[in-house]
Amino acid sequence: MPVILGIESSCDETSAAICADGVMLSNIIANQTIHEAYGGVVPELASRVHQQNIIPAVQQTIFNAKINKNDIDAVAFTRGPGLLGSLLVGVSFAKAFALAKNLPLIDINHMQAHVLAHFIDEPKPAFPFLCLTVSGGHTQIVLVKNYFDMEIIGHTQDDAAGEAMDKTSKILGLPYPGGPLIDKYARQGNSKAFSFPEPQIPGYNFSFSGLKTSILYFIQKNVAQNPNFIQDNLADICASVEHRIVTILLRKLTQAAQAYGITEVALAGGVSANTGLRQGLQQLGEKMGWRTFIPKMEYCTDNAAMIAIAGYYKFLQGDFTDQHVAPLARMPF
Ligand code: KG4
Ligand code: ZN
Repeated sequence: MPVILGIESSCDETSAAICADGVMLSNIIANQTIHEAYGGVVPELASRVHQQNIIPAVQQTIFNAKINKNDIDAVAFTRGPGLLGSLLVGVSFAKAFALAKNLPLIDINHMQAHVLAHFIDEPKPAFPFLCLTVSGGHTQIVLVKNYFDMEIIGHTQDDAAGEAMDKTSKILGLPYPGGPLIDKYARQGNSKAFSFPEPQIPGYNFSFSGLKTSILYFIQKNVAQNPNFIQDNLADICASVEHRIVTILLRKLTQAAQAYGITEVALAGGVSANTGLRQGLQQLGEKMGWRTFIPKMEYCTDNAAMIAIAGYYKFLQGDFTDQHVAPLARMPF
């Protein structure tokens, strides 16, 4: 019965989790609020806050799991992709802990871990399935053939879906991170109030930079005529932008599912916390006859539970790394 300590520090969440024989016992997430004042994640500040948070997060997760640190059988950590300085803190901690306790190390790809978050709780998807992974840095349609046999069949050519949410909120003068605020205001708005263009991109790929520019021009034009345009229409703007981003994502997902003949479809990554996307996928699944998998809120945004569960499956395969391992800002599957 392997007990895995999972460590996540790729961006601005410091997280530690304990998984025992595939069952998640605890998942501590320390959010960094310092970046709000800067309108985005400041890498240097992020790594310093990781340094402050990592030991308390690990102590708390061990306490919450009601285990002793000597019960841990292996340490799984995010090797990449992410901010190098942030990754370094988690990787260094994992290596030091493993060295001190003479434990094996398991390196995890953060984007694969987002997908594998679906194996934390029941119901679990059956292979092969499609996963739409949408975060602040990535937008991918992943064909998941097995735990660590994944193929990216579609990706963004420029901005990620979360980036489109965050940049829109910046244009609207809202604080960072804007995704959850767009979601909040969209709930009170009319998604048909304003129409934004849908890009025509070949295959299962995405593009969000044109949408961002059209939103910027739309806002500038209207604010020139009415300085209160944003305040007067905030809910409708957010609802319309969210609606466009969701329709772009779900149209490509539908095309991919039909082309690959797949009926098990999952959502992952920070943007999978979005209410419109969650409802949209559920409704689409009912229409198409798919089994859909939408993660629990705490497993949408960055967390170490997904690292620990990925570590558990690698442990079962005997797939370990060693003390020479280094973080990777870019890390293909
Ligand atoms: O996966 P994640 O926590 O970090 C990365 O690996 O990027 O994703 C963060 C992204 C941010 O862009 C954030 O604005 C977005 O997820 N996000 C949301 C919501 N919650 C987080 N976007 C829309 N609606 C939400 N409720
Ligand atoms: Zn992430």
